[in-house]
Amino acid sequence: MSTRINPSILAADFANFERELGRISTADLAHVDVMDNHFVPNLTFGLPMVERLQQVSPIPLDVHLMIDDPDRWAPGYAETGAFSVTFHAEAAADPVALARTLRSIGARAGLAVKPGTDVADYLPILAEFDQILVMTVEPGFGGQSFDQSTMPKLQLLSEAVKKSGLDIWLQVDGGITAETIQIAAAAGADTFVAGSSVFRGEPAEQIALLRAAANE
Ligand code: DX5
Ligand code: ZN
Repeated sequence: MSTRINPSILAADFANFERELGRISTADLAHVDVMDNHFVPNLTFGLPMVERLQQVSPIPLDVHLMIDDPDRWAPGYAETGAFSVTFHAEAAADPVALARTLRSIGARAGLAVKPGTDVADYLPILAEFDQILVMTVEPGFGGQSFDQSTMPKLQLLSEAVKKSGLDIWLQVDGGITAETIQIAAAAGADTFVAGSSVFRGEPAEQIALLRAAANE
């Protein structure tokens, strides 16, 4: 099974994004956390910033929208040329219509769920998505501890994806380290977002460590 390491630039130097993106060029995708201070109690950056990141990034962007009303705003992020655009199930009025719009623009469509969100309601619409993001912390802040109680949900999704025969990536986000990545991989994740653990040390080394641990 192929795995992906997506460093989150939430843990990067906000005054030097171009340089920071260059430091993670050996990763698969750059994870970009958009927060609106409404859906989550934190504020990062919006569309004009993501447009510029897209222009200067050596690797494709994996945009994670932690915002209200993604039905209105997410298509704009897909139009920047982002490789994938993930919105939260809890925030979307019509997830199916939005996923179809994102795909029609050319982005992979992603559905994110918070730790407390039940995925049962979304299993019937799995085929509308290219990736599902299981939050392993409450969204809003980097540097939190991995919540292992989300693993049964990941296993359930992994079984559902296998049964469907579809090529849907299962992403985990929050508290991913060389240790927790193995727990998430064993539960069926194949795509790993890591902020603090990548930027705490030398990013290229940390990416290599995570990659090795995910494939152990
Ligand atoms: C949290 C964000 C994450 C965050 C992860 O709401 O969605 O992408 O950057 O950071 P770490 O890896 O530090 O938990
Ligand atoms: Zn994220």
